This record gives sequence, structure tokens and C-alpha cells, in this order.
Amino acid sequence: MEIAVVHGPNLGRLGKRLPEVYGTKGLDDLAADLRSAFPGVKWTFFQSNHEGALIDFMESSEADALIINGGALAHQSYALADALEAWERPAIEVHISNVFKREVFRHKSLLAPKVNGQIYGLGIKGYLLAAQWLIS
Ligand code: DQA
Repeated sequence: MEIAVVHGPNLGRLGKRLPEVYGTKGLDDLAADLRSAFPGVKWTFFQSNHEGALIDFMESSEADALIINGGALAHQSYALADALEAWERPAIEVHISNVFKREVFRHKSLLAPKVNGQIYGLGIKGYLLAAQWLIS
């Protein structure tokens, strides 16, 4: 089974950016955690600050399932929502922080109606829970 893990804008700086909100682990640590927890999965990781690059990746990916943290694009990108609709395979949206405890603009996700489920506020453990569900 192949699972693609897609990160949107500013998440390349995970671990350095607002550690009090997002924690001190970076994308490499997240990849290592997922690989060691689920060694039987083929993991593909992609991060971009550019909406079109994320959509290009999703269009060309042949992964069986998707974990997506679109960053702020979750709140504003109809294009990314359309790409998720076209994905037509299991997908979970993850947010590291509890978006509902934060600014109002973060309370709405345009991606939420296009995914099987959403996990937010559990730090990077949310990705492990998402993977567990996708594998099951
Ligand atoms: C985030 C929450 C978004 O509101 C924010 O723009 C991010 C990170 C999260 O993982 O908590 O970039 O998606």
C-alpha cells in the first residue's frame, strides 16, 4: 500500500515555525515516525508552498490513499478542494494545531467535505492516527 503525505505552504518549516503552536519536530521527523510505525507502507512525501504544485502532485500520484495538511490553503483554496474531489481514493485531512482554538478564518476548511475525515489539534500524532485508519 502506498500513502502520499502532502503538505502545503509554510509547513516546510515545521519544527522551526511557531514551535509553541506546531511543536519542534520537522517533516523529516514526521517521515521517520511514519516509516517506523508502519514499515509495510510505501510512503511518498510532498511539500510545496505553491497551490499548483500540490495539485500537479495529486494529479500524477498513484498512491492508494492520502494524508493532506494544506496549511492555510485548506481555508481558501477551491482549486485544492477540487483536486481532492478528483482524488477519488481515501483521504484524511490533518491539522497539527487545534484550528478551532485559533483565529476564525481557520475554523473553515474547504477540504473537509472532500475527505473521509479530519484530525486536528493532536500535533504530529494526528498523522499516525490518520495512517492507522487508512491502513485499516
Ligand atoms: C495548519 C493550520 C493552518 O491554519 C495554518 O495555516 C497552517 C498549519 C496546522 O497544521 O495546524 O499552516 O494547517
